[in-house]
This record gives sequence, C-alpha cells and structure tokens, in this order.
Amino acid sequence: MNIPNADWVNPLIRLLEAVQLAVLRLLSWAGMTGTSEGQPAWPWAVRLTGENLLIDLGQARRLAWTLALLAIAFVLLLLALFWRRRRWWLVATVPLLMLIAPWPDASVLLAPAQPTSFHRSPTGFSAASIAQGRALYAQDCVACHGAEGRGGPLASAQSVWPPNLAGPLLWRRADGEVLWRILHGTHDRRGQATMPAFADSLEADDAWALIDFMKANAAGQGLRASGTWAQPIALPGMTVRCDGHAPRPLSTWRGQRVRVVLADASTPLPLEDPRLVTIVVRTATRLHSTPTPECEVDNADARDAFALIAGTDTLPGLQLLADRDGWLRARGAPGQATWSEDDLVCRTDLAPQAATRPPASDGLGALIARIDAEPVRFVKGGFVH
Ligand code: HEC
Repeated sequence: MNIPNADWVNPLIRLLEAVQLAVLRLLSWAGMTGTSEGQPAWPWAVRLTGENLLIDLGQARRLAWTLALLAIAFVLLLLALFWRRRRWWLVATVPLLMLIAPWPDASVLLAPAQPTSFHRSPTGFSAASIAQGRALYAQDCVACHGAEGRGGPLASAQSVWPPNLAGPLLWRRADGEVLWRILHGTHDRRGQATMPAFADSLEADDAWALIDFMKANAAGQGLRASGTWAQPIALPGMTVRCDGHAPRPLSTWRGQRVRVVLADASTPLPLEDPRLVTIVVRTATRLHSTPTPECEVDNADARDAFALIAGTDTLPGLQLLADRDGWLRARGAPGQATWSEDDLVCRTDLAPQAATRPPASDGLGALIARIDAEPVRFVKGGFVH
C-alpha cells in the first residue's frame, strides 16, 4: 500500500492509540475498570480510530490542527497557574482556541469498541502458539474458512460469505477485536449471528493462538500467490541452543539481523557472517558434516511455523533473513547460491533511490543495505509497510 503523506498520518494514528492506552492503564490503576480475558477492559462502546484518516486526509489534517490547538490550550492553562497578572487573559484565550479548532467529524474518528479492543497478544508469536492455533483451526474453523483461509465447504451455506483470511484483514483489525469475534461471534446489523461464538469451548489463550496461526498462514498464502509478504510478518518465537550455552529465546537477538537456515544432511551450511546471526533449524536428525552450526533449533513446531510462513513444504536449504526489529524480510530459495536485492520479499514501495545507498561489495551486502534503508513501519490501522 503506497499512500502519500502517510509519514505524518502514521504518527497521528500512533498518538491516538498511545493516548487511549494510557487512559486505559490509568483507569485500571485507579480501579475504575474491570478486566476481560485477563487484561484491563476498555469500558466504552466506542474508541478513537485512525483507520479512516488514511482515506480521508482532510480529516487527518483537521485532527492534527485540533490536537495542536489543544496542546497550546493546555500550555496556556499551565502558564495561568503561575502567571497571576495575566491569568484572565490566558484563560480567556482557551475557549477561543477551542472555537477556531477545526474539529474532525466524530463519525470518521469513532469506531465501535469491545472490552478487549486494546488487548495485546501475550504469545510472542511463538512457534508453539502457531502450532496450537493450527490444531484448533483444523478442528473448529476449517469447515467455514477453508484450509487456506479463503472459504471452506460450509462457506456458501452461511448468511454472509466468510471473509478472506489469507489477505490483509488480520493486519487491519485490532488484535483484541479479532479475539473478541472468535470468542463471542459476529452479528449483522439486525443482530443476527453471522459467525458462531467459541467462548464455551475456547480460552483466550486458544484464541490468541488462532490469531497467530491465521497470520502465519496468510503470510505463506500471500507469498505463494504474489511472491511477496505484502503484510509484515515477525520472526516466530522459539528456543535456540548455542554451543556451550543455556538455551535462549530467539527474541533475545532482537537488535541484530538474523539468518535462519533450514537444513538437513544434504544442505551445505553457510559460513558464519559478521553481518548476521546464523540460526540453523534442523529438518532432519543429521546435518551436513561441516561446519557444525554454532546455534541451532531442533523442534517440530519451529519447522512447521517456517513451512507455513514461507508457504512451502520444501524446507531443506530454505533461508530467511530477519531485520534488527525482528521482521522477516528476505527469502533465499533452496539451492540458491548467493543473495540479491530480488530476495527482498517484505518491502515498501517507497524505496529510496539505489544511488543514495552505500555501494555494496556483494549481493548480501546490497540486500542488507536495502533492508536497513527501508525499515518496516507497521502501524495497526495505518500504513502497514
Ligand atoms: C459456521 C461457520 C464459521 C465457523 C465455524 C467459523 N467462522 Fe469465522 N466467520 C464466519 C463468517 C460467516 C464470518 C463473517 C462474519 C461477518 O462478517 O459478519 C466470519 C468471520 C471471521 C473473521 C473475521 C472477523 C472480522 O474481523 O471481520 C475471523 C478472524 C474468523 N471468522 C475467525 C474464525 C476462527 C478462528 C474460527 C474457528 C475458531 C472461525 N472463524 C469459525 C463463519 C465461521
């Protein structure tokens, strides 16, 4: 998605989110709201949303101006507290500012909310959670939504066709609202149930696991169909064993680039490279004789998660690169000898000109330069790449 001016709309959407989260934390700290599914519950039936601001830049501009004037009003009130002689002048200016503020339309800014709207997933997008979600999906969801997420045998019997779960839907929705829909079902305008509720058979943990699985699945489907990860997908969480060290979570390498190599006995392992951390994920009990990997993962959930995200069953020899923020960015096909910029499958359309990047001595260097120059700027309800 390439949207002009997203550079200033994104921070605005982030601000709306942060302010509401802060209010929620404050309410919960003051004991003024209960909990829902283990996290503080949003007490109102509506919330502020940024989704529409990207479509309606005029409203986004009005909101930005209004927020700026509100900030000035706040500063004036603070000043009035201390500056006695000018106090009434300062205070009188505030209603004036509120009058001239170009308030945005409430209908653009407000969206229906659920108690779980601001919930964060506790799973860390782990391979174990994806595997848990996969089993539940096969059991409870596949009949209507289909193995690929595009509709199953019961889809046509529903009053509305189930949405395509293999597309960008899950990146546009607030995670907490997807959670709510899985647990409590969906209803049409007349209050008629469109998707059944699963709260009787599933816990919140199960629903979070389903969300992880559906995202991994959608990423793989997208890669198969279009050759790109149109929505950013994170390196899944898993436990890594390194020579002579206690096992540690893969996420502890956040801040460094990670290269994941899926390997069996026929896969020659790449040499260590100072630009990356190399993690070997075994797809077989025996590995190629040399060199021995320094850090490795030997776990069926991890293999399955990578198969799902990469949309392929041919794992040995597959390589994936994650950036310093933990987003998966590039894919190297099995048997591919070197890297090039074409391997970047999670990219923005706002690519900086090649000329502005430092020249690279090899394909991997060029790819890394491009990854660093185009960081993922993922904002829920905003610009997603
Ligand atoms: C009986 C059929 C049926 C089953 C079973 C079912 N769904 Fe749905 N699902 C639907 C329909 C129909 C919709 C569209 C609802 C709407 O738009 O009003 C939907 C919508 C959704 C959505 C999109 C919600 C949104 O925000 O728009 C998600 C996510 C979803 N289902 C996940 C699941 C998961 C996970 C399961 C298994 C636990 C599941 N569904 C089981 C029929 C089903």
